[in-house]
Amino acid sequence: MFGRRKHDAMPLPGGEEVDLSAKTPDGEYVIPADAHARRAHPLTVGAGLMLCRSYNYAEGLIFISFQRELRTFVNTMYRMADGDALLRYAMTISSAAFRIPPLNWSH
Ligand code: HEM
Repeated sequence: MFGRRKHDAMPLPGGEEVDLSAKTPDGEYVIPADAHARRAHPLTVGAGLMLCRSYNYAEGLIFISFQRELRTFVNTMYRMADGDALLRYAMTISSAAFRIPPLNWSH
């Protein structure tokens, strides 16, 4: 789902970074088509980059991301909704978006 081995968190195809293009000798993707690492990847989504942070909270997790444009987040979420294996285990129960002006916004 995340493109990493469970026991030591190393990328499935080997190396330091998760390599989405890696294939098995049979021509199958090492990281499956529905893996979160692939569905949410900016290249797959065609969206901009986001800075993500997750926090454990009560029984679940708070996912926070910062991005220049809200559509970066929204398009990523649409792409996940369209078949991300992570969503077999995680359910969104609420959401909010905030605009954060630059520090010099009043100038
Ligand atoms: C239960 C909720 C979630 C969990 C547990 C989770 C977990 C993860 C993990 C483990 C990775 C791989 C990090 C790595 O290999 O270095 C990842 C990547 C990513 N996730 Fe999530 N995620 C969650 C929800 C979301 C949501 C809601 C979004 C956005 C709408 C999102 C967007 C991304 C993006 C953009 C990447 C990185 C792609 C890349 O640059 O390689 N995730 N996530």
